[in-house]
Amino acid sequence: MDTFTIGADLKVQRLGFGAMRITGDGIWGPPDDPEEAKRLLHRVVELGIDLIDTADSYGPEVSENLIAEALHPYPDGLVIATKGGLRRTGPGQWPRDARPERLKECCEASLRRLKLDRIDLYQLHSPDPRVPYEDSVGALKELQDEGKIRHVGVSNVSLEELAQAREIVEVVTVQNRYNVTDRHSEDVLDACEEAGIGFIPWYPLATGRLAEPGGALDQAARAHDATPAQVALAWLLARSPVMLPIPGTSSVEHLEENVAATGIELSPDEVREIGSASQG
Ligand SMILES: NC(=O)c1ccc[n+]([C@@H]2O[C@H](COP(=O)([O-])OP(=O)(O)OC[C@H]3O[C@@H](n4cnc5c(N)ncnc54)[C@H](OP(=O)(O)O)[C@@H]3O)[C@@H](O)[C@H]2O)c1
Repeated sequence: MDTFTIGADLKVQRLGFGAMRITGDGIWGPPDDPEEAKRLLHRVVELGIDLIDTADSYGPEVSENLIAEALHPYPDGLVIATKGGLRRTGPGQWPRDARPERLKECCEASLRRLKLDRIDLYQLHSPDPRVPYEDSVGALKELQDEGKIRHVGVSNVSLEELAQAREIVEVVTVQNRYNVTDRHSEDVLDACEEAGIGFIPWYPLATGRLAEPGGALDQAARAHDATPAQVALAWLLARSPVMLPIPGTSSVEHLEENVAATGIELSPDEVREIGSASQG
């Protein structure tokens, strides 16, 4: 697996782990088998993954608590990236709340749950239309100045919002939905690549009709004795050197498959064909 350095000092493997799926249905409450979730987290680390993405809203609190229970004291070099800015009101419900005072409370609570003095990467989960974006980003800058956050990331942003955030604070990562079936954030990805900002594509495993028999992913999967989901990850990794996919799973078997995808080397033709099929 090759590496990417976030914010000039956090060197990570380019495939991370998304810890949203270690909760109950609707990303609400505890998982059916918390011990299995902790076993999965241990396996994440054993496999050499050193970037775990979570959020206070996953559960809520469940994902961060499980990470701390399973992995604290953390191995050297493990980067835990968490987020604040959403509330939870029930399964599948995610109202936004990125008021500065609330973000500060959320960050303090994440620090306590994760048993950390400083969070390596704290991401603003989403712009909140009721709060000026610069106020939300400004709160993260203050938390950084206070030493509670090492680096700041943003998520679910447009090109304009990214530019606005970068005027206030050094943004080291952007986390937007991006996969072979959804390339709306292409402009944001290009901006990240140009600036050396890590781009964390969420929902990276979507495959859609490209995985159907004869589709571009299906064909490449057959050629590499892989699954379409693995090829989708390999394509993301080939798409840009700043791409840091964080596939999420509740299963050790799927985790191992996802890590194995880093060993798939697509030919330039395959990368091009999947890329053009995904935009067609
Ligand atoms: N910033 C945001 O707004 C935002 C939004 C959503 C997610 N995220 C982050 O992004 C991460 C990934 O996003 P995501 O979980 O929505 O999408 P994803 O990782 O693309 O897909 C996860 C789904 O794929 C399944 N899966 C995982 N590995 C598989 C494999 N090898 N073969 C077949 N199925 C597999 C999982 O089920 P099993 O459990 O059965 O494996 C799960 O249902 C999340 O964990 C979270 O950290 C961020």
